[in-house]
Amino acid sequence: MKKWTTLLVLLVLVSCSGSGGDRDEPEAENADGLIVVGFSQVGAESDWRRANTRSMRETFTKEKGYKLILKDAQQKQEAQIAALREFIRKKVHYIVLAPVTEQGWDPVLQEAKSAGIPVIIMDRMIRTADPSLFSSWVGSDFRKEGGTAVDWMEKTFREKDVLRIAHMTGNLGSSAQIGRTEGLQEGVDRNVGWKILVRDSGDFTQVKGKEVMERFLSEYREIDVLYCENDDMALGAIQALREAHLPFGSAGGLKIVSFDATRAGLEQTLAGNIAFNVECNPLHGPRVENIIRQLRAGRTPSKIAYVEEAAFSAAGITREEVDARAY
Ligand code: AHR
Repeated sequence: MKKWTTLLVLLVLVSCSGSGGDRDEPEAENADGLIVVGFSQVGAESDWRRANTRSMRETFTKEKGYKLILKDAQQKQEAQIAALREFIRKKVHYIVLAPVTEQGWDPVLQEAKSAGIPVIIMDRMIRTADPSLFSSWVGSDFRKEGGTAVDWMEKTFREKDVLRIAHMTGNLGSSAQIGRTEGLQEGVDRNVGWKILVRDSGDFTQVKGKEVMERFLSEYREIDVLYCENDDMALGAIQALREAHLPFGSAGGLKIVSFDATRAGLEQTLAGNIAFNVECNPLHGPRVENIIRQLRAGRTPSKIAYVEEAAFSAAGITREEVDARAY
């Protein structure tokens, strides 16, 4: 009996290794001439992120000559580092990294560099003393986005001696959080009457956004502005305000400033529930492809490329602008 069990275990092991069990087979050598791109995505925390993933999937298709290997890290840096190491073992042609936070990438990027695999950073930035660890970066100027929101706040609330602000941040240590928070801080430093009453992270998700807003409202009933670092959290905050039966937006009371300008966010802007919404553009697929084309042609792509972004106020937005939004 023992002999049969051992034989069975051996048979299972052999059949597993013969059916693609070897997960580190070099992809580049078995890709039928396709360009293999390993993409480590932050997660699927927001509409913005899902649109970004779609843009990458729609760009890097087999028909266009690519094999895209996408790994969702569920907002965990350890999972992103593990994904990058797997891409290196598989010898992909290019690595695309959308880093969850800015710090802590040098060792794994050094490994990619030693393996001769070009790395393109997309969306958020990394902090490194060695810029040779990546070929190119494309994304948003998050600090400028914060500045755009603050300019609107300065104009809109110039009559107010005191402005009471609740600040809901995105996940701490990410470029989107750092830049938008710095933008707000510059406004606070310039305007003596601006006070940050409370600050907490909603991790860029709607569920957490609602929870955090409920907490803000249990501590402070008199809030003039919710500075909310993305639309998903703003949607959660709106749910909390409705459940608390508090006036907000064009009905009077608290005003919400948000970021991303997704379709759902713009609907709320048109409805007057979000007072001001700063765009953050997620459609990076074609931009990353353009970088890869340049690298393949032996050219040097721009090291840093910021995308152009707009902003929408509840007072100025039109139905056509909302309908034109693809994500
Ligand atoms: O890095 C971009 C940010 O990440 C977007 O503002 C947010 O919605 C996303 O999760």
